[in-house]
Amino acid sequence: MDEHDDIYPLARDDRESQRLNAQHQLIVKSCDNYLLDPSIPRHGIRSVADIATGTGIWLADFADELTTSALADTQFEFIGFDISALQFPTEVKPGFNFVVHNMTTPFPTQYHNRYDVVNVRLVFGAIPKEQYATVAKNLLAVLKPGGYITWTEFQLDSPHDIWPGPILSHLKSTLCDYLSSVNLSLAPMVEIRAAFEANKLQDIVARDFVSFRHPELATEAQVWLKAALGALNPTSLARLGRVGSMEAAVGKWLGYEREIEEAYEKGVVPACPVVSLVGKKEDSRGLVKRGVEEIWKVLTDGGWCVVQ
Ligand SMILES: C[S@@+](CC[C@H](N)C(=O)[O-])C[C@H]1O[C@@H](n2cnc3c(N)ncnc32)[C@H](O)[C@@H]1O
Repeated sequence: MDEHDDIYPLARDDRESQRLNAQHQLIVKSCDNYLLDPSIPRHGIRSVADIATGTGIWLADFADELTTSALADTQFEFIGFDISALQFPTEVKPGFNFVVHNMTTPFPTQYHNRYDVVNVRLVFGAIPKEQYATVAKNLLAVLKPGGYITWTEFQLDSPHDIWPGPILSHLKSTLCDYLSSVNLSLAPMVEIRAAFEANKLQDIVARDFVSFRHPELATEAQVWLKAALGALNPTSLARLGRVGSMEAAVGKWLGYEREIEEAYEKGVVPACPVVSLVGKKEDSRGLVKRGVEEIWKVLTDGGWCVVQ
């Protein structure tokens, strides 16, 4: 536990781990089965960091994809960081490491400039708006020059009618009220893009996916949303002070759950809205060039710059 759990609304028990793992499957299918954005070159990826890794499910699946197509003697390094170890896998395979670290604070220097790919997914419930710039700076410090960062979130402000009908839209507004009440962003890509641009990331690619584009995912999306709201709604109600206790919040949720099931029986289908942003860290030549430009600005006419 940490002071950030004042705002983070999800549990870290077995049930929540199973929910995260099932959610991962739906996200990947919604993203046209891409674990990593297709704009990122696969060749040469040897070291991968997954930030706020949770159960490490993305890292495990991406490692499978990468190692299956690699030569037998290729060495890889896979690391998952999270503020809590509670959901880390119980068995850690060779080449994997799981480390407790709060991404709002700088990573120890041993991890700096070390990873070819940094992945971060679904932290909109953990980072207050004003901390995105700091978190991005911390994540970019562990990325190798020339490496790629990929950041994926749900798009609550999707232009699609993602959670149709009165009950789902009511529950969406309760969730948004909760996020706003603790200064969490409803549109995190605005903050993430600003941070990417401020850090001069290159080759920025934005994508949005929505499970509606895959009609075969309808039932999975229904199951996902009911479970996600079940994980979020009671805490949101209790923290917003709309009920007197957590017990009362759970009771209220059970009523909402019945309403959701009735809506589903009438054919209501929600969508899983995913948005992602990819950026490339300048390579060493670019970083040196920019460093020289900064020195140039402070150097007086005829001044000397000594490089040691
Ligand atoms: C919704 S889960 C997503 C897990 C995983 N990224 C996924 O997509 O399945 C959010 C994760 O962020 C972690 N987290 C929350 N605040 C954090 C922080 N300040 N630093 C690192 N991890 C954090 C939580 O412990 C949790 O594992």
